[in-house]
Amino acid sequence: LFLQVFSLLIVAIGVYARVQKATDTVRDTFLIDPAVILIVVGVVMFFITFCGCIGALRENIRLLKTFSFSLTLVFLTQLAIAILGFFYSDQTRDALERFVKKAIVHYRDDLDLQNLMDYIQKEFQCCGWNNYTDWSWNLYFNCTHTNPSSERCAVPFSCCTPVPGETVINTMCGFGVQTQNYLEANKSIYPVGCADRAVMWIDSHLLLVGALALGLALPQVTAFNPLT
Ligand SMILES: *[C@@H]1O[C@H](CO)[C@@H](O)[C@H](O)[C@H]1NC(C)=O
Ligand SMILES: *[C@@H]1O[C@H](CO)[C@@H](O)[C@H](O)[C@H]1NC(C)=O
Ligand SMILES: *[C@@H]1O[C@H](CO)[C@@H](O)[C@H](O)[C@H]1NC(C)=O
Repeated sequence: LFLQVFSLLIVAIGVYARVQKATDTVRDTFLIDPAVILIVVGVVMFFITFCGCIGALRENIRLLKTFSFSLTLVFLTQLAIAILGFFYSDQTRDALERFVKKAIVHYRDDLDLQNLMDYIQKEFQCCGWNNYTDWSWNLYFNCTHTNPSSERCAVPFSCCTPVPGETVINTMCGFGVQTQNYLEANKSIYPVGCADRAVMWIDSHLLLVGALALGLALPQVTAFNPLT
């Protein structure tokens, strides 16, 4: 019942996000609108939890079997995606790079993408995908001489390392860093690319990643056969 309420909430958030969104930049970036993904996941989840909840209440074998079969299907799909992601890690990395590249290109066009990139860069203490010079992918930060933008050769503020004891935050600390070499840039920003940071994060949190996967899988496996 709890999961049923939760799935309705997901659908509501998805519909709200779909209606609210004025531009389609995010949809173009993700190929599919994340709001639509939320709605689909919510509806499927509502269907499955409905079968489990009503099936158990009414002792309806057909509903319970549908519930069990759906969960098995979902679990096997997750397993397949995890295994494919593991064996095709190079392709996974390429797909992620394409996504981050689009997010950088459209950084100024869409507030959601801007917030997402800022969050990633601050959280992982990184800048760009390979390194900070990736911000040239963006029209505003592009470092070619002919670029008339006032932010030419800059990187966003979210790349900046916090200065201890600084009372007035310098939002222009990333200006011109693309012309600097790695060591110079390291004085004001995180020069490391987010790809390397993500790999480092996964390596140092392997136990957490495994525990999360197990935590997701266990309830599904134990619910495989509600008839026993
Ligand atoms: C940044 O990454 C690009 C692509 O991997 C590389 O060509 C370039 O030399 C790097 N720049 C710095 C300053 O590390
Ligand atoms: C920067 O802009 C120039 C001119 O528009 C373009 O040729 C170049 O490819 C851009 N740089 C990057 C890294 O995309
Ligand atoms: C960059 O600066 C940080 C401290 O601000 C330092 O710990 C780190 O070793 C530096 N990295 C390089 C490559 O110099």
